[in-house]
Amino acid sequence: MVAGRGLVVSGLNALRVGRFLQRGRRDSAPAVSFSSAAGSHKEKLKNRQAELMSRGLPKQKPLPGVKHVLVVASGKGGVGKSTTAVNLALGIAATDQAKAVGLLDADVYGPSIPRMMNLKGNPEVSDRNLMIPLVNYGIQCMSMGFLVEETTPVVWRGLMVMSAIERLLRQVDWGELDYLVVDMPPGTGDVQLSVSQNIPISGAVIVSTPQDIALLDARRGAEMFKKVSVPVLGLVQNMSVFRCPKCDHETHIFGADGAKQLAADMGLNILGDIPLHINIRETCDLGKPIVVSNPESSEAKAYVGIAQQIIGMISS
Ligand SMILES: Nc1ncnc2c1ncn2[C@@H]1O[C@H](COP(=O)(O)OP(=O)(O)OP(=O)(O)O)[C@@H](O)[C@H]1O
Ligand SMILES: [Mg+2]
Repeated sequence: MVAGRGLVVSGLNALRVGRFLQRGRRDSAPAVSFSSAAGSHKEKLKNRQAELMSRGLPKQKPLPGVKHVLVVASGKGGVGKSTTAVNLALGIAATDQAKAVGLLDADVYGPSIPRMMNLKGNPEVSDRNLMIPLVNYGIQCMSMGFLVEETTPVVWRGLMVMSAIERLLRQVDWGELDYLVVDMPPGTGDVQLSVSQNIPISGAVIVSTPQDIALLDARRGAEMFKKVSVPVLGLVQNMSVFRCPKCDHETHIFGADGAKQLAADMGLNILGDIPLHINIRETCDLGKPIVVSNPESSEAKAYVGIAQQIIGMISS
């Protein structure tokens, strides 16, 4: 089922979406020109730098109508952030149907949400010139993937990405949301900083496999959020156990308890343990995440358990 508030791009909308990207491009022009070595330019540059420094960090401004922002992150790629973010958003909605939930794909270079949520098309633009999220399974979604073709690479530098992120946050008509789940790209760079410095975040959820190399990056991710004063709600240990569908034998492909040890080391909670299961992968690839397509399965229940804990932590 693909539902959505409008997948049609009128000429005007196409123009506006084009402008969104165009503005990002223009923003890539360096604020200060380093090309001239002339004395007066140096002086100007110095003054401009002093002015920028005196402004300090950007002020966080809440997103109008959005009560809680949750970010799903990890320093490492491919550990299951997007899968967790999608099932977490659906898990929150399943736990309390009265709550309005949104999902923002902050992975500008490799957006996953359109496919996982079975959504495509350009967002319409509201009277207030804001993009209207696409909706499926009751979740309002926004992604760079709605604005560019699936196969088109986004070839942008840091400043353009940061400006695109700001627009994906602020130029969207989120309406009234109880929770906005943000699916972060891998790493601890521009996007993570941009999101955490732009808006108040109720908590970060760090996803990791139990493998040493993933844990190292997960630790970096958690430390980064601590540094920018974002509360880390806990760790999700993903793909910890594989149960053979034929003989039920359990194998810990990426290790058994690595994330648990990291959580203990860093004084963090373990929010849940998600097994490595073909149904989790297949349902996401099909755009029917397990929490909606097979809510009675133990895998879906694992995600819902995480959602319940997070709701409890945030509302207490
Ligand atoms: N628990 C799981 N069981 C089986 N497959 C999983 C599980 N979690 C994630 N996957 C699969 O692993 C792959 C990577 O997952 P996902 O895209 O969620 O990772 P990611 O951390 O968001 O990656 P990226 O860093 O590229 O954004 C996907 O094919 C997904 O379906
Ligand atoms: Mg991802």
